[in-house]
Amino acid sequence: MIYLDNAATTLQKPEAVYRRVAECLPLCANPGRSGHRLSVQTARAVYDARETVAAFFGIADAMRVVFGLNCTDALNLALHGGLQSGDHVVTTSVEHNSVLRPLNALALQGVAHTIIETGPGGTLDMAAVAAAIRPDTKMLAVTHASNLTGILNPLAELGALCRKHGILLLVDAAQSAGCVPIDVQALQIDLLAVPGHKALFGIQGTGFLYVGPRAHLREVRQGGTGSQSSQPFQPDVLPDRYESGTLNVPGIVSVAAGIEYINTVGIEAVEAHDRALAKQMLEGLAAIPGVTVYGNADAARRLPVVAFNIAGLPSAETATRLDIDYDIAARSGFHCAPLAHRSFGTANEGSVRISGSWFTTRQDVEAALRAVEALAKKA
Ligand SMILES: Cc1ncc(COP(=O)(O)O)c(C=O)c1O
Repeated sequence: MIYLDNAATTLQKPEAVYRRVAECLPLCANPGRSGHRLSVQTARAVYDARETVAAFFGIADAMRVVFGLNCTDALNLALHGGLQSGDHVVTTSVEHNSVLRPLNALALQGVAHTIIETGPGGTLDMAAVAAAIRPDTKMLAVTHASNLTGILNPLAELGALCRKHGILLLVDAAQSAGCVPIDVQALQIDLLAVPGHKALFGIQGTGFLYVGPRAHLREVRQGGTGSQSSQPFQPDVLPDRYESGTLNVPGIVSVAAGIEYINTVGIEAVEAHDRALAKQMLEGLAAIPGVTVYGNADAARRLPVVAFNIAGLPSAETATRLDIDYDIAARSGFHCAPLAHRSFGTANEGSVRISGSWFTTRQDVEAALRAVEALAKKA
């Protein structure tokens, strides 16, 4: 099987990740709940992982890393915890439903939002973002990279714009974390939502939110934290305020193992590998007669996440043929990004998406290109 659905979750993880989970499981007591040695040891493993995450993303205080279930969970905490009636949010048409649906739910509670339309090129118009900021704007909520086209948004410029206007910058790094360097201080990011199970190579059920010092969030869940247990209300210390309930310790240590692996190969090497894959995918698909590729073709500003269609073949049929006839896993449909499909003119038919990872080879992409070519010839 050639796995080209890494934008959904990475299938292949470094061996060290599997090993770390297997080592953790038999010794996994409840961290921070009890005073016995195993509990303390487990809490130590979580703390070490928090520090590994913090160092990787330029986070000065590891206690500002809040572990959760996935990127959706992190985004919900940022949006529901950070916004209230009377606030306004600026966002974009290439957001995932993990941003759009919370914003639509919040709109029913009096939180207004403005959506910046990227158009078919998929590139964010900075002047339009600046023009959308109003006196009541509290936050800019933006994806670092589209999960449909892999097009990267200019975070440094967006961070500077947010500071200038005194608003919070929430970044959805679902696609980019582990693919390109992200330093929350250099980029002036206030809230960074990250899945553990994609390019950081952790297992599923992992993710975290970085909560910067300018962000003051209400907790969206209350419960046991292991700290201040006699108190009736949620403690306000970080990360406990936002981490109610028993943590996914095997998952958390798997994320740390994934980051350690990336540190070994070097994030710059991953970035260069991904850029080469993006170029190969974009150029290869564009050269096949009958194939339409979506978004601008600047591979230097794209991750290896590419959406396309074959003329005369529904996207679901293309993905099924790739799977059954060629043993290639790709994703069809709307990719939880309905507005992005509207921007790219594919709101009715959706598209096929192929997405690579550090473990994807040139030969994998070459095989996929040949398969698409053969399907396009028959369509
Ligand atoms: C851009 C983007 N945001 C958010 C998510 C949600 O991530 P998770 O599945 O970890 O909740 C995804 C998942 O594909 C995504 O691509």
